[in-house]
Amino acid sequence: MSKSLIAVLPGDGIGPEIISAALSVLLKVRPDLAHETALVGGAAIDATGTPYPPETQALLRRSVAVLFGAVGVPKYDGKPVRPEQALLAIRKEFDLFANVRPVAVFAGLEGASSLRPELITGLDFVVLRELTSGLYFGEPKHTIFEQGVETAIDTLVYRAPEIERIARCGFELARRRRGRLTSVDKQNVLESGRLWRRIVNEVAREFPDVQLDHLLVDNAAMQLVKDPRRFDVLLTENTFGDILSDEAAMLTGSIGNLPSASLGATQNGATFGMYEPISGSAPDIAGRGIANPIAAILSAALLCRYSLDDEASAQRIEAAVAAALAGGARTADIAMPGEPVLTTDGFTARVLEKVASAG
Ligand code: IPM
Ligand code: MG
Repeated sequence: MSKSLIAVLPGDGIGPEIISAALSVLLKVRPDLAHETALVGGAAIDATGTPYPPETQALLRRSVAVLFGAVGVPKYDGKPVRPEQALLAIRKEFDLFANVRPVAVFAGLEGASSLRPELITGLDFVVLRELTSGLYFGEPKHTIFEQGVETAIDTLVYRAPEIERIARCGFELARRRRGRLTSVDKQNVLESGRLWRRIVNEVAREFPDVQLDHLLVDNAAMQLVKDPRRFDVLLTENTFGDILSDEAAMLTGSIGNLPSASLGATQNGATFGMYEPISGSAPDIAGRGIANPIAAILSAALLCRYSLDDEASAQRIEAAVAAALAGGARTADIAMPGEPVLTTDGFTARVLEKVASAG
């Protein structure tokens, strides 16, 4: 069998810095992997005029997984061709409907959270976000003049099968964890919310061993800061998931800590997935070598888990990050006053040492 090919798309902002960190850790645990790098986002617009060039598309089709940095450059804000279009195009093209965002607080980082340590110690849950429908993709989606008034229209649409397949993922995920699923909707106002709740309840009949509850999204946003440890798997639609996962990230001390997996169908013999930090391109700190690489490194762990079906390597990477943190390694965003601060490369070197000593 040919080697599994990993597509590496560093993208914009801090993307190249943190992806080089993640790739070095990934290759340390899996030196057998083949990898190829391609352009995406603003970097691709600069070089080719389009955020998702044909060469990148072709690479993705030959791959089993994508290690993705970030897209977004301020100079393209509001322009017709934007870096983010690449991300949405990839999600749609590969039908990456299941977006897994694990939220866990590492021992020793409790003090970096925006909440008091007693509320978040041991926090460990997953946001499961539907990623290929809803407001992001619904049609019509345009700005028109209606009776002379400039009017912007986005369409919130959910089809029963789209809800059903993500709900099933949610129940399966909960079954492998602590057996609790919280579905989040806005059924008191939205048609799509009512369909969401009904379908989730229907799927629930297949999973009598999973304890299901429902929260309205405003209440869910409140519960995340009031009692976040009540969550095991938080299942929600695209836009709510975007917002709630940023909120959840801050509970862990930094948005730089959270990885994600966007999963779709089988391609080239594996579960095709795109693995990326949820942080975004962080242009304010890009190019300075100070970004926190944890989210990117943990994304490489998720790549091992889901696309390579290699749980041992996933755990090896996760344990190495935990060990580096336990040994006091900190980037600027997670250091407490007075704690020594490492650069991106300095932190990554500590993780690589831990991988080596465990291997
Ligand atoms: C995310 C990001 C993206 C999203 C942006 C960059 C389009 O915020 O993955 O959460 O809104 O989905
Ligand atoms: Mg987001």
